[in-house]
Amino acid sequence: MTNHNLSGGANTPSTATHISPNSCLQDFVRSARPRYPVSVLRPDVLRKRAEEITAAFPGRVLYAAKCNPDERVLHELIAGGVDSFDCASIGEIELIRKIKPDATIYFMHPRKPRESIHEAYFNHGIRAFVLDSGDELTKILKETDHAKDLTLFVRMAVPKQKVATDFSAKFGASEVETQHLLVRARNHCEKLGLAFHVGTQCTDPRAYAHAVKVAANVIKASGVRVDAMDVGGGFPADLDPANPPPPFGIYAGTIASAVWNNGLSGIELLCEPGRAMVAAGGALVVRVEGRKDDLLHINDGTYGGIFEAAGAIGLPYPAEMVRVGTKPVSSCMQAFRLAGPTCDSVDMMNGPFMLPSDTGEGDYVVLTQLGAYGEVSRTSFNGYDRVIHVVERGMGTAATGPMAEVA
Ligand SMILES: Cc1ncc(COP(=O)(O)O)c(C=O)c1O
Repeated sequence: MTNHNLSGGANTPSTATHISPNSCLQDFVRSARPRYPVSVLRPDVLRKRAEEITAAFPGRVLYAAKCNPDERVLHELIAGGVDSFDCASIGEIELIRKIKPDATIYFMHPRKPRESIHEAYFNHGIRAFVLDSGDELTKILKETDHAKDLTLFVRMAVPKQKVATDFSAKFGASEVETQHLLVRARNHCEKLGLAFHVGTQCTDPRAYAHAVKVAANVIKASGVRVDAMDVGGGFPADLDPANPPPPFGIYAGTIASAVWNNGLSGIELLCEPGRAMVAAGGALVVRVEGRKDDLLHINDGTYGGIFEAAGAIGLPYPAEMVRVGTKPVSSCMQAFRLAGPTCDSVDMMNGPFMLPSDTGEGDYVVLTQLGAYGEVSRTSFNGYDRVIHVVERGMGTAATGPMAEVA
């Protein structure tokens, strides 16, 4: 084991450390005894995931940049075959243009500042925009000087599905509005599409089949030619190893069948995966600072790298305990709640997180599937802004799996 210059109390935050060959995350934690949270990046997992998803989906795959815009992540996804991106802001557009100047970028935020539309079209070569209202259509047309080469997507709301967050609560036109917007937009664009998002962490592929059916009816009722359908993101991360969601290929197959069965064969298909693309590519190691009954106080939380574990989203990330020292670990598992380091009571996570019943101060907990909506949400609230970054090479998807080459 080499290169563990993080050991002792003077751990250095925010430095990228490459875990040494033939090591594993458990060894790393035992040797380094990190006093700050450790954010783990798994480049090989990211690249493989991008290869799998781009190969399985019968259409264009746009990576939803918001989910994890870390440049190292973007490079791995591009190496894995991703060449198109769903961006929601000028900041994301600039980032993607910097990393991959020839990327195809879709500006898919349904409510865009006027200046951003103008800048996207004239400065960044963006031609594809989404809208869910007549006002937004008018805005896009005006800010692009009534360009003739636009690709316009009308975003349709879909009924709430079995998801972590219902995206149609905020965006999306009703079915009737969508129909009218398709008719109106058809006159102003080169290519017309319909888009929807079933909601994030959707564990039932039938939700997509249902949405495609509704979309097909709306398209037929509109009476205009629709060239493309964007089925959004929503594909799940594997949060419960005992009950994994269907693989991405099942979702892709379900969508393809639904498109065919509803008379839409020939339509161009797009999807915008975020979570499913990158969740497995990140993990977080936290230290237990204290325990009260089933509540473990840890050194990272809602305002750090585990935003989605709290509150209404409340995702129960897979957890594993690592103990430093020789004290045996209980074989009896127990459901725990976690509390983050800030003084805010919002900073609590109900899980349940299954860990050995004797987990307590000084033990470490490895939380996996945190490559999505994890580090990107980190704040410095209450002064808890220190994190150690490590890179794990190798194809192991478990946090304790073997790690191979140093980058
Ligand atoms: C328009 C749009 N597309 C795609 C995504 C990615 O969704 P997911 O991470 O559930 O795949 C989001 C997430 O916010 C979104 O708003």
